[in-house]
Amino acid sequence: MQSHPQPDISRTAARPETQTAPGQAVRLDGVELSLGSGAARVHILKGVSLSIAPGEAVGLVGPSGSGKSSLLMVLAGLERADAGSVQVAGQELTGLDEDALARFRGRHVGIVFQAFHLIPTMTAIENVAVPLELAGRADAFERAAAELTAVGLGHRLDHYPAQLSGGEQQRVAVARALAPEPRILVADEPTGNLDEATGRQIMDLLFEAQARRGATLVIVTHDATLAKRCDRTVRLRSGAVETDAAGIPA
Ligand SMILES: Nc1ncnc2c1ncn2[C@@H]1O[C@H](COP(=O)(O)OP(=O)(O)OP(=O)(O)O)[C@@H](O)[C@H]1O
Ligand SMILES: [Mg+2]
Repeated sequence: MQSHPQPDISRTAARPETQTAPGQAVRLDGVELSLGSGAARVHILKGVSLSIAPGEAVGLVGPSGSGKSSLLMVLAGLERADAGSVQVAGQELTGLDEDALARFRGRHVGIVFQAFHLIPTMTAIENVAVPLELAGRADAFERAAAELTAVGLGHRLDHYPAQLSGGEQQRVAVARALAPEPRILVADEPTGNLDEATGRQIMDLLFEAQARRGATLVIVTHDATLAKRCDRTVRLRSGAVETDAAGIPA
């Protein structure tokens, strides 16, 4: 995950737009991705094709370096595929410019990272509200307070990230991801920095959002217990889909 750029939160804010066509939540076809330049250039994704139904929970597993985080970045609109088709929430992402991609992320994708990625100079409520405010939502702070309360942090609204535990910081990140009511939630090892019980609470919040809001959930994980909670497991190896099966990973 470290090799990917930090998300620019100001550019991932929600903005009202017209509805897109219904259908698969995610549809990837022959996706190729190379990153880095010169000798450091790496061919990461090699012809990845994958469809995910609306409301489905998919666990993305595979060895370190197999391209899980990279694939998540592509389907979240944070990395641009070199070739192939990337359709998310009914929209083709290849060919969108940076501004259009940022609007797409703001409307449709909630992102949770292993390392929280909160803005250290902002309080919990500001971390959640400011992206909403930038997107023009008049009720940004009310909405942020409601989301933080829903994740059990109603009593920590004015704390800075450094004043919060790891689990609390990840709750803020979850509230921030859920606040724009995205249709797709992606999480890259969201429990990787947390103890088992705290990790389970974070996962409960994500699965609850999937169930209650009908969001599609894509989770990168090394945790077999977590993968088992998903409807389906996609295993990557060397940048390609190795297995794609309902239920428990092999
Ligand atoms: N910006 C980049 N430039 C060059 N190579 C990169 C870049 N980002 C990732 N890579 C390489 O792409 C490959 C896949 O990386 P990725 O982070 O997607 O793997 P991963 O499956 O998420 O691994 P892990 O389980 O360790 O997080 C790795 O070999 C990595 O070194
Ligand atoms: Mg990774």
